[in-house]
Amino acid sequence: MFSKFSNKNYFMRKTLESLHLEGATQAGGLKKALGWASLLSLGIGAIIGAGIFVLTGTAAAKYAGPGIMISFLLSGLACTFVALCYAELASLIPVSGSTYTYTYVALGEIFAWFIGWNLVLEYAAGAATVAVGWAGYFNRVLQGFGFALPPQLTSGYFSYLSSHGANTNGFFNLPAAGIILVLTAILVRGTTESSRFNNIIVAIKTTVVLLVIFFGANYINQENWSPLIPENSGEFGVFGWSGVARGASVVFFAYIGFDAVSTAAQEAHTPQRDVPIGILGSLLICTVLYVAVAAVATGVVNYKELGVPDPIALVMDHTGKPWVSWVVKIGALAGLTTAILVLLFGQTRVFYSMAHDGLLPKVFAKLHDDYHTPATSQILIGVCVALAAGLLPIDILDEMVSIGTLAAFSVVCVAVVYLRRKFPNMHRPFRAPGLPWIPALGILFCFALMVALPWETWVRLLVWTVFGFAIYFFYGVHHAKRS
Ligand code: ALA
Repeated sequence: MFSKFSNKNYFMRKTLESLHLEGATQAGGLKKALGWASLLSLGIGAIIGAGIFVLTGTAAAKYAGPGIMISFLLSGLACTFVALCYAELASLIPVSGSTYTYTYVALGEIFAWFIGWNLVLEYAAGAATVAVGWAGYFNRVLQGFGFALPPQLTSGYFSYLSSHGANTNGFFNLPAAGIILVLTAILVRGTTESSRFNNIIVAIKTTVVLLVIFFGANYINQENWSPLIPENSGEFGVFGWSGVARGASVVFFAYIGFDAVSTAAQEAHTPQRDVPIGILGSLLICTVLYVAVAAVATGVVNYKELGVPDPIALVMDHTGKPWVSWVVKIGALAGLTTAILVLLFGQTRVFYSMAHDGLLPKVFAKLHDDYHTPATSQILIGVCVALAAGLLPIDILDEMVSIGTLAAFSVVCVAVVYLRRKFPNMHRPFRAPGLPWIPALGILFCFALMVALPWETWVRLLVWTVFGFAIYFFYGVHHAKRS
């Protein structure tokens, strides 16, 4: 999957027919090596990360209480509608570039820009979010060895913006920035992200999650589930049903990654069959795992205690078996590391496509002579992401990732309906059922989850969008290749 950059030409002839044909008949120099099991594993590898290991605790403690189980179901349902649309597009246009490419083909340049710019929130801000989650577990491991970093170096300067008023002494989250820079260096050298490596980490992550579920289930105190939905505090989104909705929009982050399967479509043996299995299968498996983990976490520990950087390890501490807590911490660190790696990689891939189309400067499409990776782009992105991870708190980052990704997902739903109308006779190996209702529900759910986010997040999205369009009108419009 990390070798995708050999395919240089198709951006110049980006029409639906050419991309469909190209993806179906050849792999653009790539080996068609991935079967459905590898794609499933790729999906699970990208999905399980900070969402379940960190944000479950934050969202339960701040917004939803034990109702976080319902939040996970709602969010999983929203993603299922979107995933059905993704599956249709990925089998119709089985090439790299993901949502950005689909949107370009379906809706044109300006929409593609909007999506590409929002994907920065999904990938770059997503990597920063997971890195802050990684740092939370890393600090606990250090503490376990009797070595604690000073509070100034375990959270960022802007932590005071966090709505749960975390560490106000924060200056720079050193471990979070550090892990980004280390992984950037690895990506610059051109990691051969062999699917075997991914499979091993996925096996570790899944085992840890299953351990939490089956071991933790013995320690559930059902009184902790009562009331299932704590009474609303008087403020929208803080407990009550509005809190469940806000919880759903926060833990939506936990599902991000199923779309990564679509980026590997070009390397699948039989993309028409395997990509839908990979996308929908990984989503289904993770939904079941997530609801079960949420049930165990809120059953073992009172939800009010869960607002810590390593809530799942805290839950395991309550079992009185320190080794389980250690296994969870180490497993979480391994799992979060690959999630960061895939997200950092995904960001360069989107910028690569955009730069090829002339919407971004050429430097983002430049490959290193020896490593054949977009090294300069990877370093520029890595430094920016490290700064974000070093300075910002996890909830601000997560909410930005959620709102940006939800906006991008809505456009994917629109694109499916539009392409069905415009090209009704094209062969669609996988067809999303129930058009236009499934995409309509996808848009509705995505919008509802966006509405449930704090208004400050909307303001930040607006500023981000205006900034993005300023770049487009000053640069992209004049340099776009439209042949
Ligand atoms: N879904 C991924 C995570 O939770 C991004 O870390």
